[in-house]
Amino acid sequence: MKIQATDNTTLKWNGDTLAVGLFVGGVTVTGELAQLDDKLAGTIKELIAESDFDGKFGKNVVTRVGGDAPVRKIMLIGLGDADEFTLDTVRLAGAAIARLAKSEHSQSLAISLPIFNNDPAQTAQVITEGVTLALHEDRRFKSEPSENPLKLETVELLELGDQQAAITKAEQICDGVILAKELVAAPANSVTAVTLAELAQQLASDYNLELEILEKADCEQLGMGAYLGVAQGSEIPPKFIHLTYKPQGTPRRKVAIVGKGLTFDSGGLNLKPSGSGIETMKMDMGGAGATFGAARAIAQLQPDVEVHFISAATENMINGRAMHPGDILTASNGKTIEVNNTDAEGRLTLADALVFTEKLGLDAIVDLATLTGASKIALGDEIGGLFSTDDNLAQQLKDAAAVGGEKVWQMPLEDNYFEGMKSKIADMKNAGPRPAGSITAALFLKQFVDRTPWAHIDMAGPAWIDKESGVNNAGATGFPVRTLVNWVCS
Ligand code: BES
Ligand code: MN
Ligand code: ZN
Repeated sequence: MKIQATDNTTLKWNGDTLAVGLFVGGVTVTGELAQLDDKLAGTIKELIAESDFDGKFGKNVVTRVGGDAPVRKIMLIGLGDADEFTLDTVRLAGAAIARLAKSEHSQSLAISLPIFNNDPAQTAQVITEGVTLALHEDRRFKSEPSENPLKLETVELLELGDQQAAITKAEQICDGVILAKELVAAPANSVTAVTLAELAQQLASDYNLELEILEKADCEQLGMGAYLGVAQGSEIPPKFIHLTYKPQGTPRRKVAIVGKGLTFDSGGLNLKPSGSGIETMKMDMGGAGATFGAARAIAQLQPDVEVHFISAATENMINGRAMHPGDILTASNGKTIEVNNTDAEGRLTLADALVFTEKLGLDAIVDLATLTGASKIALGDEIGGLFSTDDNLAQQLKDAAAVGGEKVWQMPLEDNYFEGMKSKIADMKNAGPRPAGSITAALFLKQFVDRTPWAHIDMAGPAWIDKESGVNNAGATGFPVRTLVNWVCS
């Protein structure tokens, strides 16, 4: 499928399906729309009347134009109130149009949407994102082809001029989002620490990135007792993955993205009971998925920022060597942890990953983790919990999320709550009481970052959605790759 922006207008375009976005109050057929309606033998007026189309956001209608009109189908897309128009409205409209074009079996599609903020490049970028993500279908694990294969061959974004650079940028970002989705959607018998290391190798050779993989013995040397404590219950060797993108010339800043990479979380000996969603725990490498997705996008976008992509990958399983509840582990910064719950494993792997990352001497560290059910309970499946020791970094991430159309909400790092993590026998426990579970988890991570500005995004909710929402189809979302890319590149 080829997406292209042009100077073409709704009046001049001819082809299969023409989609026109209209605001509430903009549905009176005047001006250019009236001229188009004349060309289409009054179909637009009839469609508006017959479908009660009112321009409300989410109200989208389509009909066949009879005779030998230059356009076979006309689609009207509600954009909501003009004074509530945002960048994400454009992205969501792009997604809605693409889905409708697919179900209508359109081959060629033209999209006419208002230019957001006098910025045709950004407008073209987000329409491309919406179209590309909405049309993404994962059939890797199906034996039969789709019942409704995509027939769409060309998408033309009207009246935006040539926006090839913006469209390419959107495609590179979506490349990263789709990699993250596919990693998260793939089951635990397909994505393991070993295959993640192979993927990192592939990314390194495709995009000329530096790659360091620490094997179990290397991690032992570094004293990564927390990470290895989790890994010891698995038959699959742990892989500590460190990919680096270095720009040409001197980097403007150096940052790290660290992702929780639990390719499966059984809970360990404090086993997840059935009904707890144990069968969904292939998604527990969502942080690593987003990290490698961001790597794929950033390596193509080539910003003047050095970026380290890190994941301490393993799975949380049970065998004769698995951690016992009550074991005491020593992390690579020397801190000791009483494992009162083997199901609070993500923070153990991240503890050593954060200590390793801080030694790189960077300007900022952002970690991403499907860390707590409590975050999902607090914020649902659309919003990630943002925690940070640095107001500036928190604001940068909030801004990057808003531009990317992803949602984060800042949560407090309430130091008093660390009381619940205190251990009688070790420096701390790994699991606190039920209240404020996402906060105590973040406070645990904070013990492993000394001085670098740090933020943590708990993505247990938005890593996965059960129902289609916005640009995302049901399943893995690729959250928060767009936020990360915008953050690094801004
Ligand atoms: N991977 C889970 C968190 C999770 C839950 C992710 C639901 C995605 C969806 C994490 O390792 C976990 O088990 N957390 C425990 C912590 C508790 C034992 C302190 C939790 O949230 O129950
Ligand atoms: Mn767990
Ligand atoms: Zn987990």
